[in-house]
Amino acid sequence: MYRRLMTVKVGNLTIKLYDDKRVYRPLAVSKLIASCITLKGDEHVLDLGTGSGFLAIVASKLGARSCVATDISPDAVAMAKANAELNAAYNIDVRQGNLYEPVEDEYFDVIISNPPMTPSPKPLKPETYGGPDGRMVLNTVLKGAKEHLRPGGRLIIPTISIVGIDITTKTFVQLGMSYKCMGYIIVTFSKLLKNLETYIAKLPNASIVYDKYMRPCWTAVVFEARLLS
Ligand SMILES: C[S@@+](CC[C@H](N)C(=O)[O-])C[C@H]1O[C@@H](n2cnc3c(N)ncnc32)[C@H](O)[C@@H]1O
Repeated sequence: MYRRLMTVKVGNLTIKLYDDKRVYRPLAVSKLIASCITLKGDEHVLDLGTGSGFLAIVASKLGARSCVATDISPDAVAMAKANAELNAAYNIDVRQGNLYEPVEDEYFDVIISNPPMTPSPKPLKPETYGGPDGRMVLNTVLKGAKEHLRPGGRLIIPTISIVGIDITTKTFVQLGMSYKCMGYIIVTFSKLLKNLETYIAKLPNASIVYDKYMRPCWTAVVFEARLLS
């Protein structure tokens, strides 16, 4: 069904993944999130926007009791199912649908998400497009977490500097969540972002840093936010 296979290392784990251009391939932020996941035994996990299933598989291998993995893309859902089987991660339930719709009345101990956050005046592929300010999907994931986390439950989620890191931390406080930074990286702009640089530079919440070669870069911070009550 899929022709290419790749492996991704996360700490002591080696995850095998089918690789196909129709589905988002785990990139630097995916790997950073994976390295920030901590699980106690017996936790029920949601991976929202699972893509290849990578983060759900990591959660399963780290000892999640069970995991629901959702994505809006039928291609991603098919591949996540195949990748779960490839890694013998049999406790992952993959479902198709928009954001929290497939888990409407369900509660989780941990929600993990790597939402699309590329700001653009025009729609891009759903795996990347974050709306005009980059926060369209991210904000919905943040606000919905409160409705789907058990008391004391945790949300593991990144924010990139071109969509406003402080807006995310203020949202945690508004939602009654404590938070900590679990890791960060600095990444140079891709070709797509370079084409959008003038637009992004004018966004009020965007922050671009420049490396020693004066190349534009963004920072990604992975947060773990805990619902206090
Ligand atoms: C940046 S990719 C992350 C994929 C994977 N979690 C990872 O880290 O490698 C974002 C994923 O979210 C999915 N997505 C985008 N909008 C969505 C929505 N409204 N509901 C559910 N999934 C969505 C995309 O199809 C894509 O697979």
